[in-house]
Amino acid sequence: MRVLVTGHQGYLGTVMVPVLRTAGHDVVGLDSGLFADCILGSAPADPLGIEVDIRDVSESQLSGFDAVIHLAALSNDPLGALAPRITYDINHHASVRLARLAKHAGVRRFLYASTCSVYGAGGEDLVTESAPLRPLTPYAESKVRVEDDVATFADSDFSPVFLRNATAFGFSPRLRADIVLNNLVGHAVLTGEVRVLSDGTPWRPLVHARDIASAFARALVAPVDAVHCSAFNVGTEANNLTVAQIAAAVVDVVPGSRLLITGESGSDLRSYRVDFSAIRRALGFEAAWSIPDGAAELCREYLAAGLTEADFTRRFVRLAHLEKLRTSGLVDQSLRFQTVGARHG
Ligand SMILES: NC(=O)c1ccc[n+]([C@@H]2O[C@H](COP(=O)([O-])OP(=O)(O)OC[C@H]3O[C@@H](n4cnc5c(N)ncnc54)[C@H](O)[C@@H]3O)[C@@H](O)[C@H]2O)c1
Repeated sequence: MRVLVTGHQGYLGTVMVPVLRTAGHDVVGLDSGLFADCILGSAPADPLGIEVDIRDVSESQLSGFDAVIHLAALSNDPLGALAPRITYDINHHASVRLARLAKHAGVRRFLYASTCSVYGAGGEDLVTESAPLRPLTPYAESKVRVEDDVATFADSDFSPVFLRNATAFGFSPRLRADIVLNNLVGHAVLTGEVRVLSDGTPWRPLVHARDIASAFARALVAPVDAVHCSAFNVGTEANNLTVAQIAAAVVDVVPGSRLLITGESGSDLRSYRVDFSAIRRALGFEAAWSIPDGAAELCREYLAAGLTEADFTRRFVRLAHLEKLRTSGLVDQSLRFQTVGARHG
């Protein structure tokens, strides 16, 4: 298939593109390049890419593709809280516009990267795709709005599929340090401490970036009836863990590290455990990566690449990197690049 991947220069996109290529797809990327240079270790082999902001995409840029995988977004809760209007502009309005243009351009399948945070506070039961959506942040709310709006475009020529990913972990050449396992392993490697700022009790469903990629690869080629206008949680019940359990796994794999639960950030309402049976049934998807294996991989890669404290706390933290782009004038307040060619300056 000829596939357009938006956000291909992000944390997940950089891992997903090789998986799609290995499966035989012809992949083109589309990204504004906000994190293009945020690389740890060897530079990835990016596919041919369209350098454009998704708010400015035209229909002609979307024609000739069998499918669009839409990853591009401002992608975490603190970012959304800092700039809710920009989050809604990019994550909601531009995503709905992208889906509409893709449909007009003749794209037949649209895989959307949603999130399990649409469930918000989940209670004790495992949440299935039919659970009520209770987004707690502008980021999660923007994902719910896209699912609702893009679902109305579904017809016999256009199949949207909503993949609600658990929180990702694992090494990507375009690292993110602001997601829980990557963060805990990094601090352990750099400081010897596995530091948990909450009280450790919130549940987090986790999934490896490469498992997310393989779930998308399956959804891309599944029979229409199996996926048409459906939502799927992406992950595995085995990786529904409390933050304290995740931290304990990190202590086990990072030599000489010790656990510190400070509780200083107070209570965290984002707590939920997720049911992943629908994607197993519909797509035969099984996540391959456990938390200990992911933590060991991260530890190995961080040490091999010589990860530094400065990079870990700034360059690989989405919010800090965007602030740097803004204060240096490379992007404006709405995160648009100011001049052509400024991206790699
Ligand atoms: N990483 C996770 O834990 C996780 C979990 C659930 C869902 N998701 C979703 O998966 C997708 C990818 O996540 P990620 O971790 O790779 O995020 P990321 O921040 O690493 O990458 C996002 C990419 O989108 C691009 N982008 C952002 N705004 C853009 C714009 N206006 N125009 C063009 N490109 C733009 C960025 O340049 C970047 O390359 C996001 O939609 C995210 O919400 C991620």
